[in-house]
Amino acid sequence: MKQKFYITTPIYYPSGRFHIGTAYTTIATDTMARYKKMRDFDVRFLTGIDEHGQKIETVAQQNNQTPQEYVDKVAKYAKELWKKLNIEYDDFIRTTEERHEKIVEKIFDKFMETGDIYKGEYTGLYCMPCESYFTETQLVDGKCPDCGREVKQMKEEAYFFNMKKYTDRLLKFYEENPNFLEPESRKNEMLNNFIKPGLEDLCVTRTSFDWGIRVKKDPKHVIYVWLDALTNYITALGYMSDDDTLFKKYWPADVHIIGKDIVRFHAIYWPIFLMALDLPLPKKIYAHGFIMMKDGKMSKSKGNVIYPETLIDRYGVDATRYFLLRELPFGQDGIFSPESFVERFNFDLCNDLGNLLNRTVSMVNKYFNGIIDYNNKNKFDDLEKYVLSQISIVENELENLQFSNALAEIWKIISRTNKFIDETSPWILSKENKVEELQTVMYYLVENLRKIAILLKPFMPDTSENIFKQIGIVKEDLKKWDTLYEYSADVLNNTKVIEKGEPIFMRLNMEEEVNYIKEAMKAKK
Ligand code: MSP
Repeated sequence: MKQKFYITTPIYYPSGRFHIGTAYTTIATDTMARYKKMRDFDVRFLTGIDEHGQKIETVAQQNNQTPQEYVDKVAKYAKELWKKLNIEYDDFIRTTEERHEKIVEKIFDKFMETGDIYKGEYTGLYCMPCESYFTETQLVDGKCPDCGREVKQMKEEAYFFNMKKYTDRLLKFYEENPNFLEPESRKNEMLNNFIKPGLEDLCVTRTSFDWGIRVKKDPKHVIYVWLDALTNYITALGYMSDDDTLFKKYWPADVHIIGKDIVRFHAIYWPIFLMALDLPLPKKIYAHGFIMMKDGKMSKSKGNVIYPETLIDRYGVDATRYFLLRELPFGQDGIFSPESFVERFNFDLCNDLGNLLNRTVSMVNKYFNGIIDYNNKNKFDDLEKYVLSQISIVENELENLQFSNALAEIWKIISRTNKFIDETSPWILSKENKVEELQTVMYYLVENLRKIAILLKPFMPDTSENIFKQIGIVKEDLKKWDTLYEYSADVLNNTKVIEKGEPIFMRLNMEEEVNYIKEAMKAKK
């Protein structure tokens, strides 16, 4: 039986369009899900939309729509964007769906019964856009520690979750599971700034707005967004529903991928809610860094926001996915600049990868009418050893969610293969009529390209297919990860590369394209 792998993105706030920063979480998650599928895991990939809360109520009003009309529109847009980005999710949950709301009500009732939730009064400093209360000490320069905006003193009757009760259990859990939260720096931040000093109880309802799941027995209260939102990871699997087959199969999550701004909610409140429900905790939470612009955070007011559609429509989905995953070391912040986008496009995709494919296809055509016919006699042991050891490095990087490193290691195979062409000089072999040697070189080139296409498949699925097509790989069996580990003549013999391959990436004019991207960033849509 296949081993299961449950992976999630956060559910997204539908407060506007999604920029490349937000898309980043989902692209990374999709890449991991695809990789695990290729490694023969029974993968379940969940994403969705976080549709309740004051922010949504306000934005809908501004748009002269009901909140439901508004979120319906954004959910449709999100699904279209994910399709455009080639995101292969298995489930898309919306927190306004009955399957979610009903269970959140049940969970709330259960917490009331167990005494984990109690009624009290909340006074605190509230950040409207983040929908969060903060204590004086949590503020940074008197402002919201998450978004830097003004906070307001507010008071309301509210229900609280007794977090204090779980502080010691959480601390013990962290000690026993040192890899639960990664990267390490995030873990230290949570432990030192929040858990060790002692947790505050969490306010889990509001009376100041309507758009949310009502507390059944006290309907002027609406369940506050984090208790509602976080539980999506289990309601989507049918937890507490009539059919909990998926829940039994896939929970606990193998990894929740999130951005660094929502670590506290996932690394403190979520494990505690699960402890209170007596459920196993996720195996890992991985918090990636932020995509920044040269002048700081992306913001509409600065006119520096870049939307994925701008890049996809002009440069293709794979170049967009490639750039984001390659440019930022996963876990750290990175900067998007139009210059680095065009440079990576031209150097990595056109020169290194595109040329290798083009040169190979045209040589196999020129010397052997496109047909590979290798007799296994001659071997390039060093090349084989190098590539096979790189493959295990790539696997290791991927297992650790190090997408950028994995791509860098794949690119070493590409460079090594380009160098192999220069070392073996097929044009001289041809001139000297060394047919057998020439066939051997062609075999190694096509075989390395086949391996490269397999390795690239989780990152750039379309490009990978395009490479397979150009080198004549039709059988699905030959696109499988398992076929990476050896060099064997049988795999490719009689393969026919296509007669004339189109370049997979066309070189860009640096100045023109940098201007294009900069103009798109300024455009107000
Ligand atoms: N609704 C909450 C999550 C609830 S999960 C139970 C939320 N949504 S969000 O739409 O604001 O964010 C979606 C994802 O985008 C998050 O992973 C967030 O960290 C990420 N990012 C938002 N801006 C980003 C960048 N500039 N760069 C990288 N990731 C960014 O949070």
